[in-house]
Amino acid sequence: METDNVAVPSGPLRVGVIAGSTRPSRRSPAIAQWVASDSSQPELRLEVIDLATFALPMLGEPLAAVFGSYEHETTRRWAAAIASYQAYVIVVPEYNASFPGVLKNALDHLYAEWNDKPVAFVGYGMSGGGRAVAQLRQVAEELRMHPVATSLSLTPHQVVDGRYAARPGDSEARARLLVELARALQAAPARAGGITR
Ligand SMILES: Cc1cc2nc3c(=O)[nH]c(=O)nc-3n(C[C@H](O)[C@H](O)[C@H](O)COP(=O)(O)O)c2cc1C
Repeated sequence: METDNVAVPSGPLRVGVIAGSTRPSRRSPAIAQWVASDSSQPELRLEVIDLATFALPMLGEPLAAVFGSYEHETTRRWAAAIASYQAYVIVVPEYNASFPGVLKNALDHLYAEWNDKPVAFVGYGMSGGGRAVAQLRQVAEELRMHPVATSLSLTPHQVVDGRYAARPGDSEARARLLVELARALQAAPARAGGITR
């Protein structure tokens, strides 16, 4: 199936591709790299965000993120990184019928930085990651994000030697997902200048 190039008026738009797991033998960085290697949407600048490099502790901020006042340097660093993107793709494995706690912790750390931003989901797991994506969708809505309808369902077995080996149709599905994200960016209030806090 052919995909459209979506003309987004305000130059390259930064899309953070979040690798949503942190355990030593995780597959999320390989899948995030594969997502970010898409070149079908030149308006989108896709960059991998590796949760592991932020080493966030379990949420220890005295104030809830909705107040926008962060005490810990780890939170401020995470907030600055997330605020610099205009949309996200979250690459998420399924853990026990849900998504990883480390990802929920990272989401809970912030609020305004996520608001009004489009988000797409790439799920994976032994049974495709659909339950992780469904639950993550609810959390994203609570954070006032704009989840796109399409998501990808991948298998971790396709990660070989640290790289995702795309199956037939995967690249086209990835392009369709990103077209939808680009269209959501056209409609999102945060698209032109990024977040204001
Ligand atoms: C703690 C744990 C629980 C899991 N539970 C599920 C599950 O409920 N459904 C599923 O399809 N796969 C499940 N799996 C398989 C993972 O989705 C698969 O191993 C995937 O590669 C994990 O992501 P990661 O390698 O990035 O950590 C589980 C894996 C782990 C480590």
